[in-house]
Amino acid sequence: MRNVDRSAKAFALLSIAVALLLGVAASASAQPPAAPSPVTFTKDVAPIFQKSCQNCHRPGSIAPMSLITYEDARPWARSIKQRVEARQMPPWHVDRTVGIRQFKDDPSLTDHEIATLSAWAGAGAPRGNPADMPPPRQFDDADRWHIGKPDLIVAMPKVFTVKTEAADWWGIFEAASGLTEDRYIKAVEAKPSPGARRVVHHSVETLVYDDGSSGGGTLVEYAVGKNGDVFPEGSGKLMKAGAKVRFNMHYHAIGEPVTDRTEVGIVFYPKGVVPTHVVTTILSPNQDDLDIPAGADNVRSDAYYKIDKPSHLVGFMPHMHNRGKRQCLEAIYPDMKVEQLNCVNYDFNWQIVYNYADEVAPLLPAGTIMHVISWHDNSAGNKYNPDPRNWVGFGNRTTDDMSRHWLTFYPMSDDEFKAEVAVRNAIKASRTAAQQ
Ligand code: HEC
Repeated sequence: MRNVDRSAKAFALLSIAVALLLGVAASASAQPPAAPSPVTFTKDVAPIFQKSCQNCHRPGSIAPMSLITYEDARPWARSIKQRVEARQMPPWHVDRTVGIRQFKDDPSLTDHEIATLSAWAGAGAPRGNPADMPPPRQFDDADRWHIGKPDLIVAMPKVFTVKTEAADWWGIFEAASGLTEDRYIKAVEAKPSPGARRVVHHSVETLVYDDGSSGGGTLVEYAVGKNGDVFPEGSGKLMKAGAKVRFNMHYHAIGEPVTDRTEVGIVFYPKGVVPTHVVTTILSPNQDDLDIPAGADNVRSDAYYKIDKPSHLVGFMPHMHNRGKRQCLEAIYPDMKVEQLNCVNYDFNWQIVYNYADEVAPLLPAGTIMHVISWHDNSAGNKYNPDPRNWVGFGNRTTDDMSRHWLTFYPMSDDEFKAEVAVRNAIKASRTAAQQ
């Protein structure tokens, strides 16, 4: 009896559930919701790849695989989902959850684009209707200077050959610029030889002088995907007569011999023009006492740099080595207020400079202390770690480590600083007003 009872009850419940379901179905058919059309390669994914991936993911560029056709991309769907969800691709590793969020030339995907790629991979990476495929993206010819026609081009003194098989190679070249008078730089770009983009992992150029000084800090750095540096209007870098360009190169072999002679192109302000602000890039001091025990993760170190004059921070670039994991930049203002400016989830493969959008670039009063906090991972869990069994300290070899930070800024007079702060406050006030 009790069994019958129970099954009768279950039947009744089931009938209600079915009725509910039917009801839902009925109301759904009365008012069909805009059924989300399935995400497909041709319609949704290819446009994102064209815009954000193919400049590196195409034959002859630096990425390991092409993402141009459906056949190219299909086998990578799962890996793509992982890399874009972790915001490792496209490479732009600033942590979006803290600090300042607007940068120039930010290539990162929107949340919606990431959701689209994830949905596509999750649905088994469907091709879709071939007719939806956008026309192929045309790429700029590699010889083009993004900064326009340079006034001066300085090349590495000789051609470097990257052999078919070789360990990664780091080294320095120096070349005279032939500049006979002081000039101010408006824009600057470094460019590997055509066809050598695949082997130039990155290059960092500095200006050096016969007296051993190095003026203006970093001149420019290059990593694939990088265009040129164009300084904010009215600001520039000083290049003094007799300057030499030092090329700090990192090459990697790709299974065939490739030659490179990286060049730097420079656009000057007209002769005699002195921009109001002179931009300089400094390397925050090293921690010579960097002390990373064998096998340890999240080892923190701190560095400080005092800004002597009121300054506009143009951008920053973290620099650590293989065990670098994360780096944060704080401003400790003269009134001891601390502002966290940004953090970067560091990846040694990618030396990326983060240039602030002009209207949010930090304005630093004289006496501000820049505080750089670095974390290293010397555990076996770090796939770039050459040897977790060893203690690591500061040093220039890649097997040593660093916790440095390039800061690009221009100093100003007190009055100019007050004027910039006033403009900034006015922008903030008008935004607040607009929101009310
Ligand atoms: C600036 C050049 C560049 C851009 C832009 C770029 N990639 Fe990459 N990608 C690379 C390089 C180089 C590698 C290999 C080194 C690495 O993993 O960092 C790579 C690796 C990958 C990998 C891992 C491949 C593997 O071996 O597992 C995936 C997946 C990937 N990229 C997807 C994308 C997608 C999707 C986009 C666009 C949304 C994109 N990438 C944009 C250069 C780039």
